[in-house]
Amino acid sequence: MCRIVTSLCIAMLGTSVLLATGVAQTASKSAPASAEPISGKQLYTSYCALCHGADGKGGGPFSAQLKTWPPDLTQLAKNNHGTFPEMRVTETVDGEFAKPAHGSSEMPIWGPVFRSMAHGHKDSSQVRIESLVKYLESIQEK
Ligand code: HEC
Repeated sequence: MCRIVTSLCIAMLGTSVLLATGVAQTASKSAPASAEPISGKQLYTSYCALCHGADGKGGGPFSAQLKTWPPDLTQLAKNNHGTFPEMRVTETVDGEFAKPAHGSSEMPIWGPVFRSMAHGHKDSSQVRIESLVKYLESIQEK
């Protein structure tokens, strides 16, 4: 009797291990799709255009709801003596280093959002922020 129960247990254990590895395999097979690089433009359209406008010049459909008009993102370099302020932009978007004084800003921070989308993989959230910043740099007006 005892032996039957034990072997049944072992059999069940075996099945669940098989099942678990099966699930793990399907998960790893679908992983490359989600790890594909996402273009900065795509990210911009999904997360930023609502306020900053499709062309970055401000005036997106949500602007009217804000107390602060979203700044024209194509003028960042011009307003910074012709140099694109990469660090400042990165920090603004990430928000990780936002000072308490900036707490009243209506600009949402995206670092935690992208980090949670990346399930805690800091690298891929950084890749998202980097490609966003690269995209913003590419739309600067001279
Ligand atoms: C809910 C509306 C909203 C969304 C969505 C939004 N922003 Fe903003 N953004 C603002 C506002 C408002 C400001 C001005 C904040 C202030 O001055 O306090 C701002 C400021 C900024 C600045 C600072 C500009 C400067 O002169 O330093 C950058 C850069 C920026 N946003 C980039 C982005 C990017 C990139 C995204 C998408 C990931 C985004 N924003 C999404 C509303 C938004």
